[in-house]
Amino acid sequence: MRVICTEKSQILATSLARNLSIPLVGVRFTRFPDGELYLAAGELDDDTIIVGSVVDNDSLVQLALMIDACDSSKNRLVVPYMGYARQDKRFRPGEPISARAVAAVLGRGVERVLTVNIHDREVLKYFPVPAQDISVANEIGEYIRTLGLDSPLILAPDDGALAFAREVASVGRWDFDHLEKTRLSGLEVKMAPKEICTDSRSVVIVDDIISTGGTIATATGMLYEQGAKDVYAACVHGVLTGGAYTRLMSTGIRDVICSDTIERGCSRITAADRIAAELSDDRC
Ligand code: R5P
Repeated sequence: MRVICTEKSQILATSLARNLSIPLVGVRFTRFPDGELYLAAGELDDDTIIVGSVVDNDSLVQLALMIDACDSSKNRLVVPYMGYARQDKRFRPGEPISARAVAAVLGRGVERVLTVNIHDREVLKYFPVPAQDISVANEIGEYIRTLGLDSPLILAPDDGALAFAREVASVGRWDFDHLEKTRLSGLEVKMAPKEICTDSRSVVIVDDIISTGGTIATATGMLYEQGAKDVYAACVHGVLTGGAYTRLMSTGIRDVICSDTIERGCSRITAADRIAAELSDDRC
């Protein structure tokens, strides 16, 4: 058994290979003169764990090429962050169900798919092979524990993220709650006033994705207005588009933490251990 990965998932894949004590496959990545992507894998096995987050269009194409290069029915695919998963319905006539289109491409040529905190588990049904989602809420909770905060409030930015906040909070038996949010546009989010006692409390806002940072920036401002002592943010997938990190830090937020499903400077939590545990069970 070996691990192979695309360019954007090298750190996570290396942690996974170390955790499972199996070798990594070396890969040469390059482009043709016209810009088309090319890759050539080193020595492959007939049982390969392919790791690749879909963080942009190139990483999607690279992952599809890699699955084809591996060319064995026993391959397993790990998609730590599945881009396009948020377009999981036809919201308006004429739109694609992008999550379905991506799942159809990636599910061909592997026997099983593993995702990490996918935006909605309903998307898993679009893969043509068995697909399973795992959660790193526990790992986020354990990281929060290391901050040494006094009875932090774990806060979801909306009710959709409440189950995730509950899971994180269960690690330390901390309080949890949610805010109400209205999205005004792709970039602007407004928080409706809600009576949450944050006075003199440390608050950790948790979500699956931080994309533009708009949701958390608005929440942070509101929480400080309500007297919060300090505010942190933790997410699984640090998409952090359009200057989101600096936007958040300029709100006075104490720290922004994410996992390595998208490899960032603030990736302080690894999903590798949970993925390894899942794949080890597979081996038994
Ligand atoms: C939305 O449903 C997700 O769970 C996140 O709340 C959202 O993607 C965050 O977006 P942004 O950082 O752009 O506010």
